[in-house]
Order: sequence, then structure tokens, then C-alpha cells
Amino acid sequence: MLNIALPKGRLGDQVYKMLSSIGYECAAIYEDNRKLVFESPENGVRYLLVKPSDVAIYVEHGAADVGIVGKDILLDSRPDVYELLDLNIGKCRLAVAGPNDYIEDRDNVLRVATKFANVAKDYYSSINREIEIIKLNGSIELAPILGLSDVIVDIVESGKTLKENNLKVLTTIVPVSARFIANRSSYLFKSEAIQKMMAGLQEVLSRDADSQS
Ligand code: PRP
Repeated sequence: MLNIALPKGRLGDQVYKMLSSIGYECAAIYEDNRKLVFESPENGVRYLLVKPSDVAIYVEHGAADVGIVGKDILLDSRPDVYELLDLNIGKCRLAVAGPNDYIEDRDNVLRVATKFANVAKDYYSSINREIEIIKLNGSIELAPILGLSDVIVDIVESGKTLKENNLKVLTTIVPVSARFIANRSSYLFKSEAIQKMMAGLQEVLSRDADSQS
């Protein structure tokens, strides 16, 4: 039985569709209830519905054998897992954003509000810019509006949230997409099952790429 950490929400729904199309369906997952574990013994899978930012923790500690997680979270939390596949979905970018009328002042320490403290530190150290991190857990866009920070480092997908809050992208740091990851021991001891799932996912990806070309 392969334990899969599936992020709750839209990304998880997309991934479940991919997996069910290659033989890993588990009809009960769409039951309207609050269950967090769904098993399909006949297809050899157990789905664990977890908070997107916790997927890599479950996989790193072996509570799940494989999982699907955004590259943003991998870059920031740096879990000790294998990153096996870019699933080409959940696409967005990590960016520095600030007020529309933002003017850089290199004489002062830059105050950066973010959920992604390590990504922000790495980026600013690469350009030798001294910063102070203001760690927030959500609604990051509020920080520069209220003067809590000068800029933010956050996920930008459509750009709508920035626009509606009179903010704009100042620099794109890195593109982001969903990744298929595996626990290091599971990758050894359940290698056949993981390889089979990976091959199936790869087929879906190349089918999608063909249909787009
Ligand atoms: C994320 C991110 C931005 C928004 C970007 O927030 O932090 O706020 O999505 O999407 P957009 O460019 O399409 O507008 P999320 O919905 O995860 O909520 P959060 O405020 O808790 O981070």
C-alpha cells in the first residue's frame, strides 16, 4: 500500500484526477464528510488529505511515502526528500512585490514581510541587500499597505491580489510548480510501486504536452 500525502484544495483535486486516470482511483474521496484518510486496497493506495504546507513534513518523516507539494514550499523548508517529477500544474511564481509608487532606498535596511523567510533571505543575500524579515502566515499583501513592511516576498499567480491592493511585482525570484516527492526510505523499499506511479504520471504529462503542441 502506497501512502500519498495529497494537499487539500484545488491542487490536490487536480492531482487526484491525474492519479485516478492512471489507475489509482479511490471513489470514497469525494464523499461529503470530514474524513482525512481514504483507502483503496484494490488499487494499492491510501490518500492522506493534508494541509499543503505540511505535505513535505509527512513525506520527510515517512508518514507518507509520496506526496505532491509546491516548489515554493520545497525551496523554503528544504525537506530531506527526493524530488522526482515536475507535474507542470499549480504554476505561479515567487516574487518581490511592493506599492505601485515604491522607490528603493538602499540607505535603509529593507523590511520584508513574507511566509517564505528562507527564500527571501537567500534572494537578498544573493544581491547583498540587508533586510529585516517580518514573518507572517497569510494576507501578506496587507503589510506594505499598513507600513508594516517596505516590500513582500510572496506567491503571485494571476496577479489579481496585488493589483487589487495597489501593489506590483518588483522582481520575480523563481517560477513555481507542483512537484511529486518521495520519502528516501520508501523510495528504496517501495521502489516498484513508486516507479510505477511515476511512470504513469510521466505518461499523463507527455500526453498533455502532446495535446498542447
Ligand atoms: C496566495 C498568495 C497571494 C495570492 C496570489 O494567497 O499569498 O495572496 O494567493 O494569487 P493571485 O496572484 O492569483 O491573486 P493564498 O490564497 O494562499 O492565501 P494567504 O493569504 O493565506 O497566503
